[in-house]
Amino acid sequence: MNAALELAIVIPVFNERANVPVLIDKLDAALKGRAWEAIFVDDDSPDGTADAARELARIDSRVRVIQRIGRRGLSTACIEGMCATAAPMVAIIDGDLQHDETLLPKMLDALEDDAALDLVIGSRFMEGGGTGEWDRDRVAKSAFATRLSRQVLKADLSDPMSGFFMIRSRIVRNLVPRLSGIGFKILLDIMTASPKPLRFTELPYVFRTREQGQSKLDHVVALEYLIALYDRMFGRIVPVRFAMFSVIGALGAVVHLSVVATLFLLAGMTFVAATIIAAVSAMTFNFFLNNALTYRDRRLKGARELIDGWISFCIVCSVGVIANVGVASFSHNVENGGWAFSSLLGIVVAAVWNFALSSRFTWGR
Ligand code: GDD
Ligand code: MN
Repeated sequence: MNAALELAIVIPVFNERANVPVLIDKLDAALKGRAWEAIFVDDDSPDGTADAARELARIDSRVRVIQRIGRRGLSTACIEGMCATAAPMVAIIDGDLQHDETLLPKMLDALEDDAALDLVIGSRFMEGGGTGEWDRDRVAKSAFATRLSRQVLKADLSDPMSGFFMIRSRIVRNLVPRLSGIGFKILLDIMTASPKPLRFTELPYVFRTREQGQSKLDHVVALEYLIALYDRMFGRIVPVRFAMFSVIGALGAVVHLSVVATLFLLAGMTFVAATIIAAVSAMTFNFFLNNALTYRDRRLKGARELIDGWISFCIVCSVGVIANVGVASFSHNVENGGWAFSSLLGIVVAAVWNFALSSRFTWGR
């Protein structure tokens, strides 16, 4: 019989084909004498990362591959990988070789030697750690993000933005229902999800420079970080998708009014014609913005999906308008705080309707 499995290393990957075999070699060298498995979680990368990982998995039974199709997201990839192992400990490490895999045995020893410890975090911001060749801009952005994280994180962590850590897998499984899974910051998600503070220790490492492939950290990821913070602070009161849908809806109302003003007031079109064009413009604007932001993790792509989605969104919203008018005029008849209250009620009902039905029919899978 083989030695009992000690550790799973979950590796989220997107377009990291060239790095896959190198990382397995490095893990093999770093974890000599330990019983480990590596789980690549790929989001159907166009460069064939999953194929490269499967090629290795066929000859090395320690290597496993999860290929997710139709979904994207670093945090959710990590969560799925962490739930897919029988090992008692699970580590997250980037697939681009920027994290220092030689820290893994030390992390494992720390957890195995101290049953009271929940997780070990790799830190770039403590004695012995570093960010390597980061430019001033990235250092400043990281520091700002760290400061923001203090709004939700009570623990005194030197590197809450770290994506490199090891945790008992049982703890993760118990926390899954509370995780938001939004964006890049899975560690912050886990630390802030736990009802009782997790007991952690930090070990220093130097963040390496990426040699192959490109970082996926872009403006959307930065926005996702803010969304994740919102979710932790207010998500229970107003769910984050509904909040985004509503804000975009309000922008849509501005588009509607501007188009009516332009076509009716300036261009002299009839009010009805101007209103119809305005409504279609606003719905189209809302459809694309929601597709890019609110439902970015299950974004519709390609002409076919986009056209079908747009049509179903327009149908849902048209019914929403009818609901809006119906509720507003009904509540106005039965005497209450006046027209403003009735209008607002109509808008809220229509927003909830549009949100509920479009998330089911336009972006539902
Ligand atoms: N499955 C999957 N899906 N993997 C992804 C996705 C995704 O949508 N986006 C990124 N990845 C993978 C990348 O392929 C890489 O292996 C890893 O996640 C990190 O992504 P990078 O794009 O290289 O991010 P970074 O280097 O800017 O930031 C990383 O390191 C920081 C320092 O530890 C992230 O891990 C940050 O969370 C971390 O703070
Ligand atoms: Mn990276």
